[in-house]
Amino acid sequence: MVKICCIGAGYVGGPTMAVIALKCPEIEVAVVDISVPRINAWNSDQLPIFEPGLDEVVKQCRGKNLFFSTDVEKHVSEADIVFVSVNTPTKTCGLGAGKAADLTYWESAARMIADVSKSSKIVVEKSTVPVKTAEAIEKILTHNSKGISFQILSNPEFLAEGTAIINLLNPDRVLIGGRETLKGKEAIQMLEDVYAHWVPKDRIICTNLWSAELSKLAANAFLAQRISSVNAMSALCEATGADITQVSYAVGKDARIGPKFLNASVGFGGSCFQKDILNLVYICECNGLPVVANYWKQVIKLNDYQKTRFVNQVVSSMFNTVADKKITVLGFAFKKDTGDTRESPAIDVCKGLLGDKAQLSIYDPQVSEDQIKRDLSMSKFDWDHPAHLQPPSPIAIEKVRVVRDAYEATKDAHALCILTEWEEFRTLDYKRIYENMQKPAFVFDGRNIVNVKRLRKIGFIVYSIGKPLDAWHHGKPE
Ligand code: NAD
Ligand code: UDX
Repeated sequence: MVKICCIGAGYVGGPTMAVIALKCPEIEVAVVDISVPRINAWNSDQLPIFEPGLDEVVKQCRGKNLFFSTDVEKHVSEADIVFVSVNTPTKTCGLGAGKAADLTYWESAARMIADVSKSSKIVVEKSTVPVKTAEAIEKILTHNSKGISFQILSNPEFLAEGTAIINLLNPDRVLIGGRETLKGKEAIQMLEDVYAHWVPKDRIICTNLWSAELSKLAANAFLAQRISSVNAMSALCEATGADITQVSYAVGKDARIGPKFLNASVGFGGSCFQKDILNLVYICECNGLPVVANYWKQVIKLNDYQKTRFVNQVVSSMFNTVADKKITVLGFAFKKDTGDTRESPAIDVCKGLLGDKAQLSIYDPQVSEDQIKRDLSMSKFDWDHPAHLQPPSPIAIEKVRVVRDAYEATKDAHALCILTEWEEFRTLDYKRIYENMQKPAFVFDGRNIVNVKRLRKIGFIVYSIGKPLDAWHHGKPE
């Protein structure tokens, strides 16, 4: 029986291994983590992450061929294939701070693998890492191996949160990179055999190590670049009277461009895009390619601009002051169908509004009060470094109320900002909300989910990303 162990029971390790266990009943899969609460949650009815369809998959396999454990060393030493899916955040200090990937967690996992292994293993990079990381890992493993042989593979993960199970069950492709030696090819074949249980052969791409590592960074950069491109156009739409939804539709109809990932928004968030592009920028700089580095840096700059532009729009529309005005924030997660808030645009927007002394009333169907307050009191890039977690600052606590219902959140508010595209925000009773708000009542839709015409008819002053502005925003009376 082949044994798989995955180090890191997070958003990637948990769902990915659960699907492997589901599709390969004859393989034993152990997911291990140093975080005791995380493993306890994986072993309970309240999984540590909210992901549609995940509960069912875990329930089917847990205790049969899927195990969650903190006994990292035992499971690593017994495994034939070790996936490493630990966090690879942005460095916060030292060389490359604010850009380079912090491989501290990865390196400590690699050293531990070398330490506890008594038999040969395939070590799979599942985390997103800088190109050439496999070379460094190989060095750590072989120099500490006591004669045991390791094959390193790169098998980056392309799932998106909120649709992880669908993506894993039916991936566009599975990418496996390895050494072009006989042993390397055997290792690739062994991992290919695992995925071949449910992924059609023509969707399994095998490459060299560096192509696999770089393809992951490239794919995320291309996706984020589409969003920054459409967001750049959204600013021009507002200035000219064009409508970004119509522009996106017309542009996306070109078969060479395609319709997906062209939704204008308050900015992209999530744990991957910014981190991976900064990492790419750093690699370009280190390789003497400043022009290429600057090209990709613009994707991040535009995203920051879009968030700032949104905050400025709120403040300037409301007579240039939001001091002590109640502003409702609907949605705090970085996208719908997840409770994940890592790099959520809501964090920067809320911080911007708090900077202008607003009172915030926040509602998100999946994010806890604790998480929101922690996010609002953390410095940039600290979220992925557990050691830096600090208690919320008194300012954030004082000016922020987190409520469990959209109607309560909007009561007596001057404005509401929609920052996550949760389905329930499309169907709220906006007439009822309007009646309970201060007048003039503003809606700032950062996700283009409300019917602008209908809301204006109710009486709201509406700003929607990339949509023609109303008379109010043109400086004319209604
Ligand atoms: P995560 O923070 O949710 O999970 C990482 C886990 O690794 C944590 O639970 C942490 O406790 C554990 N860990 C860290 N060091 C460890 C060690 N030495 N031993 C055992 N456990 C250890 O992160 P994630 O979102 O699952 O991302 C993991 C990697 O996958 C990152 O490199 C990320 O860029 C990449 N990735 C993420 C996504 C996504 O959607 N979140 C998608 C594709 C790729
Ligand atoms: C992304 C990649 O899609 C995935 O392949 C990779 O493995 C991890 O990073 P994720 O961050 O989970 O996945 O979600 P994604 O759907 O890509 O959304 C990222 C951000 O972009 C969200 O904030 C989302 O709201 C925003 N977005 C997405 C837009 O603003 N407009 C769009 O058209 C699409």
